Amino acid sequence: MIDSSMSDNKPRLVVLISGSGSNLQSFIDACAEGTLNAQVAAVISNRAYVKGLDRAAAANIPNIAIDHRAFDSREEFDQNLGELIDSFAPDLVVLAGFMRILTPDFVNRFLGKLINIHPSLLPAYPGLHTHQRAIDAGDSEAGATVHFVTPELDGGPSVLQARVPLLANDTADSLAQRVLSFEHSIYPKVAQWFCEGRLAMVNGQAYLDGKALPEQGIIFSENSEQ
Ligand code: GAR
Repeated sequence: MIDSSMSDNKPRLVVLISGSGSNLQSFIDACAEGTLNAQVAAVISNRAYVKGLDRAAAANIPNIAIDHRAFDSREEFDQNLGELIDSFAPDLVVLAGFMRILTPDFVNRFLGKLINIHPSLLPAYPGLHTHQRAIDAGDSEAGATVHFVTPELDGGPSVLQARVPLLANDTADSLAQRVLSFEHSIYPKVAQWFCEGRLAMVNGQAYLDGKALPEQGIIFSENSEQ
């Protein structure tokens, strides 16, 4: 039997997705395992019938599709999305493969409690096709970065970055798969720091345990425990 009185006290996460939701799944699993002491209060997708919504339903998490194409403007969609998110009273809003450019009003509404994961070693390669761009540039490393969201696209302060070697025979797909498995480690970890009150953004700078983080954030290593 689920003891709802226990989960009632836990920090509330609202997770935004557009597709497969494998990062969402890593949050669901981390909450179930207790490595993330939080609850996924709702999952919202801007696309209907995506696998991520099925993952939420399978975990008995409220899940909602709100199609951006039903709105006349980006501003109108973001306004409605913001109200929907607020109706779940989130402590933290998690962008997990949410493939939308956000208006400044939306970002400012959740500033300081809005995080994203981006599949590159930020500040390199904001935007799309990150893995192909890393391959084309002949980089020796690729990876993913968890960062606070600010109005600048993929430009908010980095918190935690996973780096993987780029192999000679890598394709964008093979690289994406390898990076994704690291995404599933680093993203719930950052959320846990936030929920513990260890992580904050102040004046556009990320702090962990009161210390300002470097531009690329902390470099993730499976052996080091923060
Ligand atoms: C992830 O690789 C994430 O980093 C990326 O989309 C994928 C979503 O996968 N996000 C972005 O590109 C945001 N700009 P998932 O739906 O399986 O979690």
